[in-house]
Amino acid sequence: MSSEFAHKSVMFEETLEGLSCKKGGIYLDCTTGGAGHSSEILRRVGEEGFIYCLDRDIEAINAARKVLDKVGNNYQLIQANYVNLDRIVEEYEIPELDGILLDLGVSSPQLDKAERGFSFSKEAPLDMRFSQDENETATAADLVNSFSKDELVKIFSEYGEEPYSKTIAEFIVQERKKKYISTTTQLSSLIVKSLDGKKFKGHIHPATRVFQALRIAVNDELKGVEKIIPKAIKSLKKGGKLVIISFHSLEDRIVKNTMREAVKECICPPRQPICNCDKTSEAKIVTKKPIIATETEIRENPRARSAKLRILEKI
Ligand SMILES: C[S@@+](CC[C@H](N)C(=O)[O-])C[C@H]1O[C@@H](n2cnc3c(N)ncnc32)[C@H](O)[C@@H]1O
Repeated sequence: MSSEFAHKSVMFEETLEGLSCKKGGIYLDCTTGGAGHSSEILRRVGEEGFIYCLDRDIEAINAARKVLDKVGNNYQLIQANYVNLDRIVEEYEIPELDGILLDLGVSSPQLDKAERGFSFSKEAPLDMRFSQDENETATAADLVNSFSKDELVKIFSEYGEEPYSKTIAEFIVQERKKKYISTTTQLSSLIVKSLDGKKFKGHIHPATRVFQALRIAVNDELKGVEKIIPKAIKSLKKGGKLVIISFHSLEDRIVKNTMREAVKECICPPRQPICNCDKTSEAKIVTKKPIIATETEIRENPRARSAKLRILEKI
């Protein structure tokens, strides 16, 4: 792990075991980050193996290179959005894979670096894009200042499970008429003000849920998860494993349901007497229930508290 991209990998051993990481294997890490998981995969595959490492964020790619170089050179870094996996496989002529990893969400350095705009406690432009060079992607400020009240309520409640989404959205719509909302701390103090006197659930900062919701919306994270699973299964060889770590209930629900959909034998409407969909199951679910972090890991890395790991195997 490089010091400028210090991120403690979650469920490290469980992930490598889930991938059945072996000598000579070919793997793909769709969310390389600081290469915590990737560098150990690279070490375990040895010189005969290979790992493809994707990340949408150029800062992560640059940090990962330094970490991976210390282990070996049988890797390829690719700055890309994993949603485009089918095209990436073609372009880079990626062979059938022994395992694919998705460790979803945001890395600690992305949160810690003020100018990325992910953190409500650090003054910065309200950005939140994983890839700041993807010009076509709207920033969090674009969303907050242009979405209707109803759209904001939907995002805050669906992606953030924010109980006061209506109150907050109404206040934002009022306040943005007076002044464009351009920074993280400006938004965070508006949220605090809008909830004046309201009791907060748990002990989290009142802006936590709205910031999470905006990050998910800006990066279209949930649709990405839904789209990647069938593409990932296609890219695996028989017996290959797909390991996904998610960090909030909504994300985990999508992983669970999309995996279930992928392993279904038949997708005909339930009342149809004879099956004509020709669908056969391409995979089986390895983890009936998600694997969660041990108490020891949670003590050492509180981020692991909400992590859920699910495994699917191509058949
Ligand atoms: C939780 S971190 C991964 C940490 C990594 N497993 C480690 O051990 O160091 C998630 C990473 O996924 C990247 N990411 C998020 N969405 C992505 C996407 N759609 N395509 C590619 N990378 C993405 C983020 O930029 C971030 O670096």
